[in-house]
Amino acid sequence: MNYPSDMVLQPLLSAEQVARRVRELGEEITAAYSGRPITLMPILHGSLIFTADLVRCLPLEMVIEVCGLRSYAGATTRPSHLTWTMRPPGDLTGRDVLVVDDIVDSGATLRCVLDAVRAQKPASLRSCVLLAREPLELAPDFLGFRVGPGFVVGYGLDYDGRYRNLPDIAVLGQPGANAQ
Ligand code: IMP
Ligand code: MG
Repeated sequence: MNYPSDMVLQPLLSAEQVARRVRELGEEITAAYSGRPITLMPILHGSLIFTADLVRCLPLEMVIEVCGLRSYAGATTRPSHLTWTMRPPGDLTGRDVLVVDDIVDSGATLRCVLDAVRAQKPASLRSCVLLAREPLELAPDFLGFRVGPGFVVGYGLDYDGRYRNLPDIAVLGQPGANAQ
């Protein structure tokens, strides 16, 4: 893929590895809800691609309700300030809600969404996250892969809005630097 050469991409997970794990997650989630209808809540924008693949592995009755959170952070700093770009809807009481995100780092983003949903007293509340940075700050109920300290892009994950469309997941680094 043609990208500006100011950054180096070090392969981490191939599209095939991701697809296989997404199918497994679909099976785990399907078994866990055993036929109950769910409300899937992806956190925009990072979980877009993951969600698009995951829902097609979930033969469950579902509605999708998106929410959006923006954190002010670059590739090196941790988010310190979270702002809603789209709040969760206000009618989640009694529903089985599954929050979906791309990656858990400090856990602040996922915790913020879970707290907002929990305040509405859903029947159940669980989370599914594709990647989690080690050491795990917050363990999702369903997790795709654990990853190391490098900043990752691709399959929906961005750096400054770029790289979301990469089919594979890669670690982003400066030219000449050791990415991982
Ligand atoms: P947390 O709030 O510190 O857990 O960070 C999670 C959010 O930050 C995710 O929703 C991502 O949008 C973003 N993020 C954290 N680490 C990375 C990364 O390595 N690549 C891309 N986005 C990341
Ligand atoms: Mg992001």
